[in-house]
Amino acid sequence: MREPAITQTPAMIELRGLVKTFRHNGIQVDVLTGVDLDIFRGETLAVVGASGVGKSTLLHILGTLERPSAGQVRWEDQDVFSLDDRSLAAFRNRKVGFVFQFHHLLAEFNALENVMMPALIARVPQAAAREQAEAILVRVGLKERLTHRVTTLSGGEQQRVAVARALVLEPEVLLADEPTGNLDPKSGIRVQELILELNAEKGLTSVIVTHNLEMARVLDRQITLIDGKAIILRGE
Ligand SMILES: Nc1ncnc2c1ncn2[C@@H]1O[C@H](COP(=O)(O)OP(=O)(O)OP(=O)(O)O)[C@@H](O)[C@H]1O
Ligand SMILES: [Mg+2]
Repeated sequence: MREPAITQTPAMIELRGLVKTFRHNGIQVDVLTGVDLDIFRGETLAVVGASGVGKSTLLHILGTLERPSAGQVRWEDQDVFSLDDRSLAAFRNRKVGFVFQFHHLLAEFNALENVMMPALIARVPQAAAREQAEAILVRVGLKERLTHRVTTLSGGEQQRVAVARALVLEPEVLLADEPTGNLDPKSGIRVQELILELNAEKGLTSVIVTHNLEMARVLDRQITLIDGKAIILRGE
């Protein structure tokens, strides 16, 4: 059993009083009503909870993909939502790898091209981008699928391409929404092990939304959302 990351101060990421309200057909939905949470460098944090409680919403705001209705997200003491959209996008590309719940791969491209894409956008030279993308695809067990168009891959294979794409630029923080959701147990364990290996090797900080209780169990801490607030289930 690994030593859990010691919760150090100050936190790497601080969520303070986060509120998110959606308006749908004139009805107001209060999804997050005041989330306070610290995330520490090098920890692995599981986010669990029933469907619709706001896990994806929380992850999107944490990853700066969506702005909160109120409250702050501070990364190393910087209030990230005070940045304009362009600076925020640059910040996000540098720091965060995101695995979406519905992976959002580019359908017309193959696995390798999908994984190379963030590297090319970050102006990594073509040959190096290809090398990095191949290496991470091998680690998720897709060595034999590099040139397959993603629409011809199984749901679980597509999910692993999405995990590889999130990790190709070696982000400081991995935010993953159900990364083992569509995976058979063996592939799920492979993704789980990869995340733990990168945590041990490179201190990758991970926040992982999961319904997979085995996955939640092996991470350092576990939280849930109740009435729009974060409750720590395990860990300090
Ligand atoms: N863009 C939106 N407009 C209106 N309502 C939204 C929007 N996004 C999310 N919601 C609502 O916010 C609530 C929380 O959604 P969210 O996707 O965060 O839940 P979740 O915990 O990730 O659920 P699941 O486990 O099913 O993925 C839901 O009731 C959803 O309908
Ligand atoms: Mg969700």
